[in-house]
Amino acid sequence: MAVLEGENIIKIYEDIRGGCETKALNRISFKIDEGEFVGIMGPSGSGKTTLLNILSGVDKITSGKVKIWGKDINNMNKSTLAIFRRQNLGFIFQEFNLLDTLTMKENIMLPMLLDKKAKAYMDKKVKDIMEAFNIYDIKDKYPYNVSGGQQQRVAISRAIVNDPKIVFADEPTGNLDSKSAKDIMMCFEKMNKEMNNTILVVTHDVFAASYCNRIIFIKDGRLHSEIVKKSGRKEFLEDIMNSLAVLGGDRCDF
Ligand SMILES: Nc1ncnc2c1ncn2[C@@H]1O[C@H](COP(=O)(O)OP(=O)(O)O)[C@@H](O)[C@H]1O
Ligand SMILES: [Mg+2]
Repeated sequence: MAVLEGENIIKIYEDIRGGCETKALNRISFKIDEGEFVGIMGPSGSGKTTLLNILSGVDKITSGKVKIWGKDINNMNKSTLAIFRRQNLGFIFQEFNLLDTLTMKENIMLPMLLDKKAKAYMDKKVKDIMEAFNIYDIKDKYPYNVSGGQQQRVAISRAIVNDPKIVFADEPTGNLDSKSAKDIMMCFEKMNKEMNNTILVVTHDVFAASYCNRIIFIKDGRLHSEIVKKSGRKEFLEDIMNSLAVLGGDRCDF
């Protein structure tokens, strides 16, 4: 069964003042299977962030369905959805969104504190994740004392500390230099291959996208095309560039 399924997703933003509305998503349908590592690409304003927000229950759908393990998340009431999201979904953003007054270790621990886990369990879990992402040596530092790439690895650790089954990331490498971006994509790869997370990542960076196994291209709120990785990353990078050339558009941000 698909882990995540979108059926004819339509999202219209109403303008409360002028009555002008934006159709940000127009009949988007697709399925994502367990263990997939999917990239979403498209020109600026094509609806990528909106799609991620609809799929993860952050924003309300106008019509259509989003099913996670066959369950329609729009049929859940607010508190059920909040618990469902906290237990099953992980989120990573372009801005790392760490708390400045907490150390790296404390930032990662936060979601577990909310879930009232035992101290010994939390300590081991944080250590294991920080070691996996090569940041254990900065565990007692504060966000302003480490690099952007390190902050993002902490944000990733925090997103997966409660073992979510699906991880959503919106432009996670957007604020990083190319070396840090590579580190982050290798963390995603590890998360996908070794920790068995299903990942959905929005990116406009061709290099970052080449770590994915499938790319869905959207344009003007519609699903435009998709490609699947057949052989190596380098070949996939070329396929992605070719698809972007076909996608075109005058408001491209890549
Ligand atoms: N909160 C909002 N209210 C009104 N329009 C919005 C809102 N968020 C996004 N939009 C519009 O929806 C379209 C898609 O935006 P977005 O999903 O942010 O695109 P992307 O992430 O691909 O750049 C754009 O035309 C944008 O201006
Ligand atoms: Mg966006």
